[in-house]
Amino acid sequence: MKKIISMIGIYVLCALASYGCNPKQEALSEKGGIWVVYDRECRKCHKVNGKGSLIGRFIAKIPNFTNTKWQDNVSDSRLIISVANGKKKMPGYKGKLKDEEIVDLVKICVRSFYPPQEQ
Ligand code: HEC
Repeated sequence: MKKIISMIGIYVLCALASYGCNPKQEALSEKGGIWVVYDRECRKCHKVNGKGSLIGRFIAKIPNFTNTKWQDNVSDSRLIISVANGKKKMPGYKGKLKDEEIVDLVKICVRSFYPPQEQ
């Protein structure tokens, strides 16, 4: 019995870690347009809520897109360059995605988390 309880505990911890304490992971691609690309390319690291997984935040320094301070301090051009060329643990998307898609991902998707979305 003890074993089962600890197994459940581990499962819950893992689920929390990978979903960033927010288990509501509905498909963003339902919104259509550029969200289909976000869902396919960005969601696995940045998550549906834009906060990134807990582990990702601690280990890979994934930024929390819902953090107003962060949003206020980063320009569109810097973010577009980061997504195009990659930044540390994030791969670059130049060549893989169209330039307009990279711009929309930043201007529409990343900025939509500011102010934080109602969940
Ligand atoms: C493999 C995981 C991974 C994927 C996939 C990924 N990112 Fe990232 N992203 C990161 C990490 C890690 C960082 C933090 C980089 C750093 O500052 O060290 C980051 C940072 C960013 C930043 C902030 C850059 C800056 O200048 O501070 C933006 C914007 C961003 N990602 C957008 C995207 C978009 C849009 C996509 C999809 C096309 C995407 N990411 C896909 C891991 C990922």
